[in-house]
Amino acid sequence: MKFTKILALLLAAIMCFGMLTACGGSGDDKKTTDSTEGTKAPADSNSPADSDAPADNTSGKVFKMGTNAAFPPYEYKEGEKFVGIDVEIADAIAKKLGGTLEIVDMEFDSIITAVNQGEVDFGIAGMTVTEDRLLEVDFTSSYATGVQVVIVKEGSDIKSLDDLEGKKIGVQLGTTGDIYATDDYGKEFVTQYGKGADAVIALKGGDVDAVIIDNEPAKAFVAENEGLTILDTEYAVEDYAIAVKKGNTDLLDDINEALEELTVDGTIDRIIAKYIKAE
Ligand code: ARG
Repeated sequence: MKFTKILALLLAAIMCFGMLTACGGSGDDKKTTDSTEGTKAPADSNSPADSDAPADNTSGKVFKMGTNAAFPPYEYKEGEKFVGIDVEIADAIAKKLGGTLEIVDMEFDSIITAVNQGEVDFGIAGMTVTEDRLLEVDFTSSYATGVQVVIVKEGSDIKSLDDLEGKKIGVQLGTTGDIYATDDYGKEFVTQYGKGADAVIALKGGDVDAVIIDNEPAKAFVAENEGLTILDTEYAVEDYAIAVKKGNTDLLDDINEALEELTVDGTIDRIIAKYIKAE
């Protein structure tokens, strides 16, 4: 395993300690709240009434979320509407902070710049915490885990990560799949696409032999496209978190507090369970 991935794993472990509950995934069976309730606090929430009170400094604010809405089930479009786990979590956070949410859809690899230039207040896009990104932005506590997986055509001779040597790999530009594949298999073997879905189309058309992408979008793409399968191997395990401008500790703390409350009251689990059905 490459050093970058070991670092990512280490980081994942550290973040899990920071927010134990967030790393338990969605396998929690205590939830009874109807998922159609959207992002509202559950009726049975036992948090004190004032926990929803807007923080003075952010009251009425429009929080701009930078994302790349081509990444189901985290962010995608249903018609003109933005939906997904990140969209609902961001909406719940904005409400907790007494504001509203505005979604700014962009290329994935523009999000960190947009955050740093203040074009958006935060970036939430199934974004993995990495050492390199930590040099550019600050990350909140992790709210979900992701796994880089490999999609191939059914019957492909690629059965393991080793079989990827010398094969053509499709990735989404600027993602960890892109970074790791380039590191491990060589730039000349990696083709970058603007969207994960375009890499999958390239795989179907035979332009690439495999696609490396996060597990949940992988499942969504494989479900939509016949003849594809996900290898039973985990390329990298990662933590997703929200990116804020480096040094903006006020917002970082506010979001972390909101995330904590939304974790404790079951909202985060409920949102995740709405989009990711237990297998
Ligand atoms: N987890 C990967 C990364 O952070 C991929 C995220 C892609 N997200 C998206 N909305 N397209 O690099």
